[in-house]
Amino acid sequence: MNSHPSSHPQNPAWTALTEHHHKLCHVHLRELFAEEPLRGEEMVIDAIGLTLDYSKNRMYRETVALLVQLAESCHLRARIEAMFRGDRINTTENRSVLHIALRAPRTASIVVDGVDVVPQVHAVLDKMTAFCNRVRRGEWKGYTGNRIRNIVNIGIGGSDLGPVMAYEALKHYSDRSLVFRFVSNIDGTDFVEATRDLDPSETLVIVSSKTFTTQETMTNALSAREWLLSGLGGDSEAVAKHFVAVSTNAEKVSQFGIDTANMFGFWDWVGGRYSMDSAIGLSTMLAIGPEAFLEMLGGFHAMDEHFRTTPFDRNLPAMLGLISVWNCNFLGAHTLAILPYDQYLKRFPAYLQQLTMESNGKQVTLDGQRVSHSTGPIYWGEPGTNGQHSFYQLIHQGTRLIPCDFIAFLESLHPIGDHHDKLFANVLAQSEALAFGKTTEQVIAEGTPQELVPHRVFEGNRPSNTILAQKLTPDILGKLVALYEHAVYTQGVIWNINCFDQWGVELGKALAQRIVPELTASSEAPLQHDSSTNALIRRYRDARS
Ligand code: F6P
Repeated sequence: MNSHPSSHPQNPAWTALTEHHHKLCHVHLRELFAEEPLRGEEMVIDAIGLTLDYSKNRMYRETVALLVQLAESCHLRARIEAMFRGDRINTTENRSVLHIALRAPRTASIVVDGVDVVPQVHAVLDKMTAFCNRVRRGEWKGYTGNRIRNIVNIGIGGSDLGPVMAYEALKHYSDRSLVFRFVSNIDGTDFVEATRDLDPSETLVIVSSKTFTTQETMTNALSAREWLLSGLGGDSEAVAKHFVAVSTNAEKVSQFGIDTANMFGFWDWVGGRYSMDSAIGLSTMLAIGPEAFLEMLGGFHAMDEHFRTTPFDRNLPAMLGLISVWNCNFLGAHTLAILPYDQYLKRFPAYLQQLTMESNGKQVTLDGQRVSHSTGPIYWGEPGTNGQHSFYQLIHQGTRLIPCDFIAFLESLHPIGDHHDKLFANVLAQSEALAFGKTTEQVIAEGTPQELVPHRVFEGNRPSNTILAQKLTPDILGKLVALYEHAVYTQGVIWNINCFDQWGVELGKALAQRIVPELTASSEAPLQHDSSTNALIRRYRDARS
């Protein structure tokens, strides 16, 4: 039996929202702004250095109240407490979900199975700090005595996307004398291109893998070891000076040949896509230094506290999550565009894809019943203004509803000429155009030839959020990431799904393991796939031979 109210058609809060939607589904944002001239000042949350303007959503104040009722009927407050308390809310893996402990201050205490995890977290942070200081000061020497100048992070999914995104986002604060490369794809091109101009004697490889069994990462790590040893004369002693590991699996790390003294641990209560602020962030700390890394953790923690303690109608992540539920489940949007107007955030949409879609791409409720409503929308995006000259056409005039999150900063990290004024003008212009569009009358009044009028009309009424901060700093990046982490949890609670497992990635992994020997077998092994897969395998075998 599915007892969760939100996934039950009879949940009164859900029903009230459905009825409410019937009332306002023909109302245009133009009318909403005309009726409520102050909504641009009032449907805004300003907290902990971030602003969320959600006034350009197809919502009344009453909608907000109904969404808050929905959150309450789904026990969002209790579910937040359960996460912060360390309850095993990842039920299918019987695990606590405690990324919030990764940024808890030293003085905090979070007890899991009778053990306070906060001192463990800080012990790892201290070890990372000592290591990063040695590398950054040139005290950590390679096998030949050279200082380390290149860092190669090998990992995939959460062990790559967070590190790459944070490196790019915080490049302004990074030590430019160090070169950072990120290898994730099992395609050999990724490794070769990342290392081709690097000197192995000056290179440190971080093998980042929670499980230390992931096919892509282990394949790349083995190639890295070969590359390094062949560049340094083949003495396996060199591995200790050039390889460190970030993992929860000490046994596999030492089997690989990395001394566990050079391993930075984390715990099974940290999900891969929630791990960029754990030791998985070692490359981030190497780039920006321990102080700035701690500043980033401070940002995460401030958002955690805000999420835990603030009433939902003034709660940034709760509202962001509830607005997306409104747009997806009631307005019928299938997707959500993430549009950062900051070049440093160019990998932020890719990072959010894993965070949001691996978390909420689920078809059954916590108790295994098929959901009765759609769940995780498709997240995607590119930095503005580039996207404007690519896919925005479809957002403005296509037939699909694509809610947008615009992310912008009041201050540029590179205030040259009038670039920032123009950048900021563009973000405002886009959300204004999406909301209000241009009517037939306006197009005609511009003297447009009759036959072009329908082509030049903008319907408008496209919802968007605008998220603002003063400028991109480590603290703000932590807040932004935690904002989306908790928005994802808010969605998951409403949809009554498990945000923290990812069984959907398993089948493909298992099939790939089975197909590798079929592609490489010296004798023609019998194939028992479907006719398409069998024929494609034969083509590959023919080409290979
Ligand atoms: O894609 C599945 C997944 O398990 C992700 O959740 C995870 O971030 C990634 O693989 C990498 O896993 P690991 O860190 O164990 O190598």
